[in-house]
Amino acid sequence: MELRDKVAVITGASSGIGEAIARELSARGVKLVITARRESRLQALAADLPGPCAYLAAPIELPETPQALMDLAVSRFGRVDILVNNAGMFVAGTLETMDLEALAQMTRVNFDAVVRASYVFARGFKAQGSGAIVNVSSIGAYLSSSSVGVYSGLKHALEIFTSALRVELKGSGVRVGTIAPGTTDTEIFDHMRARGEAVRADQTPQLDPADIAAAVTFMLTQPDRANVARLLLVSSAESV
Ligand SMILES: NC(=O)c1ccc[n+]([C@@H]2O[C@H](COP(=O)([O-])OP(=O)(O)OC[C@H]3O[C@@H](n4cnc5c(N)ncnc54)[C@H](OP(=O)(O)O)[C@@H]3O)[C@@H](O)[C@H]2O)c1
Repeated sequence: MELRDKVAVITGASSGIGEAIARELSARGVKLVITARRESRLQALAADLPGPCAYLAAPIELPETPQALMDLAVSRFGRVDILVNNAGMFVAGTLETMDLEALAQMTRVNFDAVVRASYVFARGFKAQGSGAIVNVSSIGAYLSSSSVGVYSGLKHALEIFTSALRVELKGSGVRVGTIAPGTTDTEIFDHMRARGEAVRADQTPQLDPADIAAAVTFMLTQPDRANVARLLLVSSAESV
């Protein structure tokens, strides 16, 4: 895909990996619709990007948010070519300490919302005969670690869901894949600490969000015949 003048929707763009993807794609001439809940962050990022950018401040788990994002992209830029499902949270805890309501919210954000957005955009992409969906998974999808079983399980489910969607869309002109980052230096760990959750030594971030953005660009810029179905990007210090 030639990126210049394409239109991308990026979820979870107010910080971390989503912000880095927004900066990278905007620098490459992609018109953006960015979303997250913190409107001031989105506003500041939109003003700082080199190219056109609209934003929608909304909880991604609301059923109407994906369609609202698509409508915003079409009304501002006339079409949409790329969806990056990146919004996510990381909830950890032991059997004794796990916050079950936080787990339920993580399920809504990390899986339910991604499925909903994938279907809404995949229908549009299939109808136009082109498009790309990148779902941000995690190295956790491949691990069985105590205290993060639900996060890992949701990311594993996301891998399988995305793979099945890719197969369903074969021959349609729509490209679908996952990127699974290793530990990356973002606010996700600050949010854990703020909730009183322990961050393990092996969760010390090694990758920079820009590393993930570069990998997403690699996925999106393959020739039409090639689909990066799954990309695992770990740091050189990661012991997996
Ligand atoms: N950092 C890592 O080590 C790592 C490793 C593997 C995978 N990942 C994945 O990478 C993705 C991005 O995470 P990150 O590390 O960049 O963390 P981050 O800096 O905390 O970013 C998370 C983004 O998701 C948004 N978000 C969270 N809950 C939301 C909700 N209910 N509605 C709408 N937006 C919501 C946040 O924005 P608001 O708070 O403004 O809503 C923020 O923009 C996640 O899917 C995560 O699982 C991260």
